[in-house]
Amino acid sequence: MALVSGNGESALREAGFPVWKLIRELSWARPTSTWKPPMIRSKMTGVVDRLRATLRGGPAEDVSASTIPDLANLGKVGRLRHIQSIYERNDLRNPDILVGELLTPEERESCWRINERQLASMRRDSFYYFVVARTKFLDQVVLDAVASGIRRVLVLGAGTDTRLYRFGGHLASFDVDVAECDQPAAAAVKGQVAKTFKYSDRVQYLSADLNEAASCGRMWDWIDAGGTRPTLVFAEGVSGYIHVPAFERFLKDMASHLAKGSLFVYDFKRSGTDAGMNQAGKPIFRMPVDAAWLLEKHTSAGFARSVLTSTPAMMRDHLPSWNESISPAYDQDAFVHAWR
Ligand SMILES: C[S@@+](CC[C@H](N)C(=O)[O-])C[C@H]1O[C@@H](n2cnc3c(N)ncnc32)[C@H](O)[C@@H]1O
Repeated sequence: MALVSGNGESALREAGFPVWKLIRELSWARPTSTWKPPMIRSKMTGVVDRLRATLRGGPAEDVSASTIPDLANLGKVGRLRHIQSIYERNDLRNPDILVGELLTPEERESCWRINERQLASMRRDSFYYFVVARTKFLDQVVLDAVASGIRRVLVLGAGTDTRLYRFGGHLASFDVDVAECDQPAAAAVKGQVAKTFKYSDRVQYLSADLNEAASCGRMWDWIDAGGTRPTLVFAEGVSGYIHVPAFERFLKDMASHLAKGSLFVYDFKRSGTDAGMNQAGKPIFRMPVDAAWLLEKHTSAGFARSVLTSTPAMMRDHLPSWNESISPAYDQDAFVHAWR
């Protein structure tokens, strides 16, 4: 397997070599204790640094990886997916081979520098393999939606989500309209950084703070623009950051804006696993893992029906070789499919 070194990345890009192939080739070459990875500087670095500096209100030169604002852990989850796409194998491998491109060169290098002891410790965290399963679960949600005839997809709280690019060719060939939405600061960075990805010209970048109903107008406009065409909306790792009354209202608004046949899929933190408060002491969205309770909740919000997927079921389906001798079970999260 050829390994790219030095300025290989930009040379390959200029020659039209697809980025995903490069990432795959790099990710198949496993680091050893003596091998040191080449420092890969992406063309996007300057853009990212400038945007990060803007967010911080300071000049680009002052920006270091340690001062990057990590809105609601979006960078941490992206880094985890990159690590899992490099170091894991077979069904335990994260299929997100593109997310590394959204990290800074320093963040990517820190992933390549992880040693066996650090990796073993990460794997002992119950959240680690849960993230691999969650990535595969929601990949399947997108592919199933297209197979069932849905032709509009909105990624809410997109962060470092890469599905609209990893599946870009598939979505384009079915003429699926696609958009991402996030908090304004995160959406601004993503819209700039993802510009170099193939199929990014098909993506609309929207911003909305789900805690502020007044900021969500453009998101509802995008959904409304679909008219009677069904839409898939999904939100991965987002609901747990939203205040209770804001999310309750958001669920009702979502049901009233989505056309019949649309689907909203999201994961939620189960009540009782923590205090259910954010740092400001405001209650944040939690629900019980109880299918009947969730059905009542979603039908009373205006959805036609809902289905619960528990984390153990998701792990069984998407990581068949995982069991509790590999890592502890993660029991804090579950998933809802809510059909309109
Ligand atoms: C843990 S990250 C998950 C990101 C991405 N979905 C993923 O799985 O990689 C949480 C995401 O929720 C978004 N988020 C948090 N609070 C939000 C809010 N009030 N309104 C809109 N998005 C929010 C963050 O910006 C971030 O993109």
